[in-house]
Amino acid sequence: MDQNPNRYTITAALPYTNGPVHIGHLAGVYVPADIYARFQRLQNKDVAFICGSDEHGVPITIKAKKEGITPQQVVDKYHTIIKKSFADFGISFDNYSRTSAEIHHKTASEFFKKLYEEDKFIEEVTEQLYDEEANQFLADRFVVGTCPKCGFEESYGDQCENCGTSHNATDLINPKSAISGNKPILKETKHWFLPLNEYEDFLKQWILVDHKKDWKTNVYGQCKSWIDDGLRPRAVTRDLDWGIPVPVKGANGKVLYVWFDAPIGYISSTKEWAEREGKNWEDYWKDENTKLLHFIGKDNIVFHCIIFPAMLKAEGSYILPENVPANEFLNLEGNKISTSKNWAVWLHEYLEDFPNQQDVLRYTLTANAPETKDNDFTWADFQARNNNELVAIFGNFINRVMVLTDKYYDGIVPQPATFSEIDEQTLSELKAYPAVIASSLERYRFREAQGELMNVARLGNKYLADEEPWKTIKTDEERTKTVMYVALQIASALAVLSEPFLPFTSEKLKKMLNVRSSAVETSLKWNDVSSKSELLKSGHKVNKAELLFSKVEDEQIEEQLEKLQKTKMENTENKENSEETASAVAPQKETIQYDDFAKLDIRVGTIIEAEKMPKADKLLVLKIDTGIDVRTIVSGIAQSFEPEEIVGKKVTVLVNLAPRALRGVESQGMILMTENAEGKLVFVNPGEEGVENGATIN
Ligand code: MF3
Ligand code: ZN
Repeated sequence: MDQNPNRYTITAALPYTNGPVHIGHLAGVYVPADIYARFQRLQNKDVAFICGSDEHGVPITIKAKKEGITPQQVVDKYHTIIKKSFADFGISFDNYSRTSAEIHHKTASEFFKKLYEEDKFIEEVTEQLYDEEANQFLADRFVVGTCPKCGFEESYGDQCENCGTSHNATDLINPKSAISGNKPILKETKHWFLPLNEYEDFLKQWILVDHKKDWKTNVYGQCKSWIDDGLRPRAVTRDLDWGIPVPVKGANGKVLYVWFDAPIGYISSTKEWAEREGKNWEDYWKDENTKLLHFIGKDNIVFHCIIFPAMLKAEGSYILPENVPANEFLNLEGNKISTSKNWAVWLHEYLEDFPNQQDVLRYTLTANAPETKDNDFTWADFQARNNNELVAIFGNFINRVMVLTDKYYDGIVPQPATFSEIDEQTLSELKAYPAVIASSLERYRFREAQGELMNVARLGNKYLADEEPWKTIKTDEERTKTVMYVALQIASALAVLSEPFLPFTSEKLKKMLNVRSSAVETSLKWNDVSSKSELLKSGHKVNKAELLFSKVEDEQIEEQLEKLQKTKMENTENKENSEETASAVAPQKETIQYDDFAKLDIRVGTIIEAEKMPKADKLLVLKIDTGIDVRTIVSGIAQSFEPEEIVGKKVTVLVNLAPRALRGVESQGMILMTENAEGKLVFVNPGEEGVENGATIN
C-alpha cells in the first residue's frame, strides 16, 4: 500500500433509485461534497470522490408494483435520470456506480461471508411481521404503524420520518401491511444479526471521546443519544426477493438488508474506479493516512456513524471515517420536501426553466445550506441572491474589469507603475483569502466559505469604485494601468477561488481571462492566489467578455410559485378523497423555548374590508384593524370565503411577520387559520366577546 497523507476518500450518500433528485438532495449532500472535493483537488490532494445509485430496498419494489414494472426497470430508469442530473449540475464524482453492478454484488457478498465465517453475526429465529394475503414477510417500508418513540402514525418499519428514529418493524404500534392494508401476523423466520451491543465500548471511545471536538454537534448529539439508549443487535438480512442474496447455505429467499449492502457500495464504486484508472483501491480504504469522509443527510447519521463503522470494525482491515459532516434538511417554501407529495424542485425540471443556470441554484443552496438546522428554500430568496449578489456584485465586478481592459488596452494586461499603499493593501488582502476560505471549508462551513468568496468580489468592486479608472484614464495613464492590472489580479483570483462553488462560472471566467486555453498549460491552483507574485502577467491577452449572470425576472418566480400552488391544490384534493388521512392529527413539533414564543406578536383584529385579488383565484386582499393600525394582509382563503361574508369578523393576527409582496401587493402580517373536520378553512376565533382590537395573545 502506498502511504500518503494527502489522500481523501470522499463519499456522498448513494441516492435511492426510486425517483429523481431534488434541491434537498443537492443542498444537503451533493453540493457540499462537491465543493469539498473540488477544493481538495485544487490543493493538489489525491481525491477519490465516490457515489452511485442505491438500487435495493423495499421502496424500489413498492414503486415497481405501483407502476406495474420490474424493480430492475425502476432502477434502470432512475439511475439514468439521477446520473445525468448530477453531471448537469457539475457534481464532479470520480465514479458514479450502482449497487446492481456485478462488482458490488461480489464485494458485498464477500464482506458478509467474511463476517459470517468469523462468527461475527448472531444467527437467530425470531417472529417477524407477515402478510398472509400477500404471502410475504413485511420488512422495513412494507409496514407502517405508530412510531413507539414519537407517536407519528405513519412511521415505516425501519425508520420514522417524523423523528428520525430507526427501529425494528416489530416495535411499531398498530402495524399495517403497506401492500394489503391488513393487520400482519407474526411468523418465525431465521436471520443474521450484527450484535451492535458488542461494539459499544469501541463506539463510545471512538465517537464520544475521540471525536467529541471535531464532529458537528448535530451528528455528535444523535450518536450520543443512540449510544445512551443502549445498542441492540440489528438484523442485516431480510425475507425479500429484491437485493443481494444472502451468500450462505439455508438462506433461500433472503437478501442482505439494504443498509448492509449500500454503504459497501462506496467500496465497490471505488474498486470500479480504481480498475478503470489503474489505481490501487486499497490505498483509499485501508491506508491509515487516508481521510475518509461521508457526506450525508441527517436521516443517515446512525447508519454512517454507528452501523457501518461497526461493520468495518468487525471486518477488521478498513479505516474508519474521519468525519461525517451531515446536514439537516432543506424545506421548500415552508413545507417539508416530499417526493410522494411532489413538493420539490426537481433538478431536471429546474434546468428546463433555468437553462445553463446551475451555478445560481448551487449558490443559493449553499448560501442557505441547512448546516446546523433545517432551512427554507424560497423562490424569492433565489431571485434576490441572483440579482443582488451574483449579478450585482460578482458579475458586475468582472464585467467592469473585462470591458475596461478591452476598451483601454485591447484586452492586453497593462504594465503597472509603482503600487500605491492602497494597491499594496488590496493585493495583500487578496492573498489572505485562500487561507480564510480554506479554514471555513476545513470546518465544513460552506455558507461561511462562500460568503468569503463574495467578499473577494466586494473587495474588487470597492477598489474600482475608490480608484475610478474611468476617471483617471483622462488624466493619468500610468495610474490607470496600475489600477487595471490590480483589478485583473482580483478577477483571476476569483476565477480560481470560485471553482469549488461555481464551477461553470469559474470555467467561463477562465476562458474569458484566457488562462485555460491549452491543455498543456497547467491551470491555476488554490494556493497560487497567495503564493504567486502575479496571476496574470502584463502583456497577456484576455478574451472578450461574456455575461456571467443574468437577472431573474419576477415572472419567472411567479411561474415557479404557481407550479407549487398547483401541487398544493392537487394534494388537498387527494387528501379529501382519502378518508384514511382525514382523522390523522399532525404530530407535535419540536420543543421551543419561551423566548421563541415571545418573539411572536399575535393580536386580536377585525376584518374591515375584503376583496378578491384580480386574476388570482386563491387570494383575498384584506384590510385589518389591528388596534395598532389598519393594514393590508393578503390571505390565501378565497376558495373558502366570499369577501362579503367575512367583513366584520374578529380574527387572530400575527402582526410582526416580515412583510411579503404577493402579486405586487405588500402583505403585512398573517391571519391565523385552522381546518375543520371537512377540511374547510376556519378562522382562529379570538374568543370571548368584548375583546378589543390590539389585545395581545400570550
Ligand atoms: N439511499 C439512502 C438514502 O437516500 C442513502 C444510502 S447511503 C449508503 O437515504 F451509505 F448506504 F450508501
Ligand atoms: Zn417517530
